[in-house]
Amino acid sequence: MSKVERKNIQVSQEEIARQHQFIEEIKQLNYQKEMQTERKKRFYLATFGCQMNEHDSEKLAGMLGEMGYSECEDMDESDLIIFNTCCVRENAELKVYGHLGAMKHLKEKNPDMIIAMCGCMMQQPEVVEHIKKVYRQVDLIFGTHNLYKFPELLFSAINSNKTVIDIMDSIGLIAEEMPIERKDEVKAWVTVMYGCNNFCSYCIVPYVRGRERSRYIENIVDEVRMLGRQGLKEITLLGQNVNSYGKDLGNDTTFAKLLGELNEVEGIERIRFMTSHPKDLSDELIFAMRDLNKVCEHLHLPFQSGSTRILKEMNRKYSKEDYLNLLEKVKINIPGISLTSDIIVGFPGETEEDFQDTLDVVEKGRFDQIYSFLYSKRTGTPAAKSVDQVPEEVKKERFQRLMEVQNRISNEINHEYLDKEIEVLVEGESKTNDKIYTGRTRENKIVNFDGNSEMIGKLVRVKIDTVKTWSLEGKVL
Ligand code: SAH
Ligand code: SF4
Ligand code: F3S
Repeated sequence: MSKVERKNIQVSQEEIARQHQFIEEIKQLNYQKEMQTERKKRFYLATFGCQMNEHDSEKLAGMLGEMGYSECEDMDESDLIIFNTCCVRENAELKVYGHLGAMKHLKEKNPDMIIAMCGCMMQQPEVVEHIKKVYRQVDLIFGTHNLYKFPELLFSAINSNKTVIDIMDSIGLIAEEMPIERKDEVKAWVTVMYGCNNFCSYCIVPYVRGRERSRYIENIVDEVRMLGRQGLKEITLLGQNVNSYGKDLGNDTTFAKLLGELNEVEGIERIRFMTSHPKDLSDELIFAMRDLNKVCEHLHLPFQSGSTRILKEMNRKYSKEDYLNLLEKVKINIPGISLTSDIIVGFPGETEEDFQDTLDVVEKGRFDQIYSFLYSKRTGTPAAKSVDQVPEEVKKERFQRLMEVQNRISNEINHEYLDKEIEVLVEGESKTNDKIYTGRTRENKIVNFDGNSEMIGKLVRVKIDTVKTWSLEGKVL
């Protein structure tokens, strides 16, 4: 049975063209200023949060590049400061407020400076109210749904003495054909879908990123083809829950089908994706991962808690057994696959027994790596209302024990690589030593080795001679 065609949520061509006009207007302004001052306008962009935000920042940088701005590392030196914020946990928000406070004196020194705030935090009305009241140095506030309108909003902020605020409280739109400035020459992020419909009871993301909406498959394939032509070798497909890709498109498109099409794109050697929700990980996707040669043997599959009771409270829609069975199926079908996961420690009502279930899943799952977080209360989410909050010391103590177990397992798994020869995609010089080069295996393990700049973007074979908890070291063959 064919589904109903979804209603049009694409930003129109006319609107995109209008934004390009604002880019042009700001470019002219900047050019005139540059002539007078003999100094190019500069922007400083700080990004908090996940890959979605990192990728949104690449879009902001793309637009700013076309406006004639160059990026700088020093807030003091910049004409425009942008904070692309995250609100998934309290400490992400506190970091932003810390920076904002410190920016007051910068603005006093340079009143022409524009300070802009965007990203997930700004989709919360109480945050915007707070910033308006307390941090009057802010000139522009916009959210996640109207990133494409940034040229127009920046133009208004430059030409106004008041704070420009534009938060779209919509389920979200999709804008194609805006510039993107990718810094990495080897790998690229590609958004396949926006938003989330899952409403896990602890999580703020569905409230700030809107409902699930998939990009059209043609647009994604076109973008990846272009990346292949530009010489990029690896793509990571992004979405809060990539497994639901296509469900809203009203045709038979699935994530597995998208992977199949992308596997054919010339030039691209490796395909990764994140994040996958256990409840939506279909057999079709597992088989696609098994059969498609470019899709890497790595799966990030957050389980959040090992306790079936807590999982129900979290609204995750699977039990401990469902999750362990799913892992087994994945491991049987894709031998050698590396697994990673997210875990929340200290969800309201979590007992020692519940936590033991989490440790048990970590032991049985044998993940290559886990990302664990102390539960953080997010206003507006159901779990925040629970009276059964776990004391901070208990959370920290459990977190510590979890890390110890996982560090042992990561070490054990990495030791299996000793003396093996593996394929590494070379990404660049290591940050600490310019004679050492760094890259990743298909399983997403970081490998450091003796290399040279000729190797960047190439696949090399490395023999592993040293093993650490977070990385491997070796010699190029
Ligand atoms: N869509 C992805 C990631 C969402 S945010 C997914 O579903 O897996 C990334 C991680 O942050 C989540 O997996 C979860 O482990 C963690 N997280 C989300 N809300 C949190 C909260 N209130 N407190 C602590 N950790 C949280
Ligand atoms: Fe948050 Fe759950 Fe959606 Fe992930 S799936 S973004 S944890 S609500
Ligand atoms: Fe943070 Fe928004 Fe990502 S809340 S984790 S930046 S989707």
